Amino acid sequence: MTPPLFDTVAEVRRRVDLERRRDRKIALVPTMGALHAGHGALIDRARREPDCVVVSIFVNPIQFDRRTDYEAYTINLEEDLEFCGARGADLVFAPSTEEMYPRPPGTFVEVTGLSEHLCGRFRPGHFRAVATVVAKLFHIVAPDRAYFGEKDAQQLAIIQKMVADLTFPVEIIPVPTVREADGLALSSRNRRLNPEERRAAPALYRALRAASDCIARRSALAAEAKQAALQVLAQEPRIRVEYLEVVDPGSLAPVERIEGPVRIAAAAWLGETRLIDNVPCP
Ligand code: PAJ
Repeated sequence: MTPPLFDTVAEVRRRVDLERRRDRKIALVPTMGALHAGHGALIDRARREPDCVVVSIFVNPIQFDRRTDYEAYTINLEEDLEFCGARGADLVFAPSTEEMYPRPPGTFVEVTGLSEHLCGRFRPGHFRAVATVVAKLFHIVAPDRAYFGEKDAQQLAIIQKMVADLTFPVEIIPVPTVREADGLALSSRNRRLNPEERRAAPALYRALRAASDCIARRSALAAEAKQAALQVLAQEPRIRVEYLEVVDPGSLAPVERIEGPVRIAAAAWLGETRLIDNVPCP
């Protein structure tokens, strides 16, 4: 059964208020559609609570760096609705662009510090747009809990900081990355890889693992761990590394000496497709 679909702010608010009056907590899983098992893990995790599980589907135009990337981001709402139903979501909020941005926005949420590292260095304005749309979704749905994937570790950290700084009454729940059998992290962008690129893509995860193995063997130097990862990537000429960093999991700032838990994060291009991945290193 497909869950009820709401496409206006007023309607979804009315429905969520009704659920709240029935003493149900509200869970929100924000997505941009093109749903896959990674999104599925978020819905499954939300479904473990007795909450009313709301999945939002909105391709947020302001967070894309390039118009062509936004236009290439096609989703099939019918398929996504069925996916949500099969996973047991209670309702779907899929507003139009005009509904979310009836006029050009002049107010933005900017999480400083965290947004300047990793992807932030290469995608100016991206995290400001993500934080802004997530803040809007939080105002519209007013969830008690919201679920975000560790696949986008920087996004997750930024949302946690926004919630803490702006006192949003929502608990943010991280969900571990879902991967293909060969290690490639599930992503809507994987569909754009041609067969050769798809074959090369798991090297990104192998490289991150090589770096974390190097640290586990007690290397205290980030440079050595990065070297181990870059050696793996050098064997895949199709992959162009954008960044590969060993960072502090709290501040996301690069570390030189490893003295506690770190996260190893990378972005790489395969042809026209940009992939990101990261692994924790306790
Ligand atoms: P989207 O890329 O659709 O991802 C929606 C959520 O699914 C994010 O929290 C993301 O981290 C999570 N996710 C994606 N792939 C995953 C995987 N392989 N394993 C686990 N979780 C995964 O991220 C966005 O949309 C947008 O930026 C959004 C937050 C909706 C704001 O527009």
